Amino acid sequence: MGVLDSKSAIVTGSARGIGRATAELLAAHGAQVLINDLDADLAQQTASEIDGETAVFGGDLTKGDAPDKLVQSAIDAFGKIDIIVNNAGYTRDNVIHKMSDDEFQAMLDIHLVVPFRVIRAAAPYMRDTAKKEREEGQEVFRKIVNVSSTSGMFGNAGQANYAAGKSGVVGLTKTLAKEWGQFKVNVNAVAYGFIETRLTAAKADDNVMEVDGEQVQLGIPEQMRGVASMLIPLGRPGTAEEAAGGVFLLCSPWSNYIHGQVLMVTGGMFGGMS
Ligand SMILES: NC(=O)c1ccc[n+]([C@@H]2O[C@H](COP(=O)([O-])OP(=O)(O)OC[C@H]3O[C@@H](n4cnc5c(N)ncnc54)[C@H](O)[C@@H]3O)[C@@H](O)[C@H]2O)c1
Repeated sequence: MGVLDSKSAIVTGSARGIGRATAELLAAHGAQVLINDLDADLAQQTASEIDGETAVFGGDLTKGDAPDKLVQSAIDAFGKIDIIVNNAGYTRDNVIHKMSDDEFQAMLDIHLVVPFRVIRAAAPYMRDTAKKEREEGQEVFRKIVNVSSTSGMFGNAGQANYAAGKSGVVGLTKTLAKEWGQFKVNVNAVAYGFIETRLTAAKADDNVMEVDGEQVQLGIPEQMRGVASMLIPLGRPGTAEEAAGGVFLLCSPWSNYIHGQVLMVTGGMFGGMS
């Protein structure tokens, strides 16, 4: 018996990192999980390695109607949607005076527009289902968790584009909480600080990802990694599994009365990294 038995979930960007750890944790507690990633082959591999019922939608969610297809894949595989975790993301750092329109827009697209489109595509399966349940006198909670960042809450030098997207998704979260609360959809966000993944690994020639055929540099300067740990009261960065714990809480029945909040999963850090 798992606390999420009979629940079905979508986790975007779940081939690796925090998304993968989240998918594993949801599956370990009984949920069926749709794995998505830009890196379609790795998404397939991750799904096959997770102990539990999984399905896969490989593809870049910023392209065309991919968010609609993602939602349809979950419906085709599981017949319903109870949990959405908008986790997919990456960084494209630059200082404002050197930042191109494309660099700015790309961060708004993946961190803000994609969560909006995924949520809108899921509306028939979350709102309409809840209306029927309400008529039958049932109260069934569903969950949406959007992934934000301390950069979105406090700003971060070199991340105007990323911070704008991660701040925007907080506005989306709070608004949706007001619109869909009546349908018992808990809508919350997590804001991570410094979690060990490739996004926060040292900047290196091989720490890159390919987006639209272009190599995008990931990571942060080694010097900043050291300073960041000193700013964290718990004294070290978090693991992907610890990061997933915050999302899990917000997907569990123990968060049924937690609504429209941003949970800081930062090891106690109350400001940004720089
Ligand atoms: N690591 C941190 O310290 C940290 C801090 C704050 C916020 N975050 C956020 O947490 C989330 C997960 O990041 P992570 O650290 O696990 O990074 P990660 O690179 O390990 O994982 C992110 C995954 O998202 C996928 N992805 C990126 N763009 C996509 C797209 N357009 N369509 C589908 N998939 C896409 C990537 O391929 C990757 O597998 C991101 O939203 C990130 O911004 C991370």
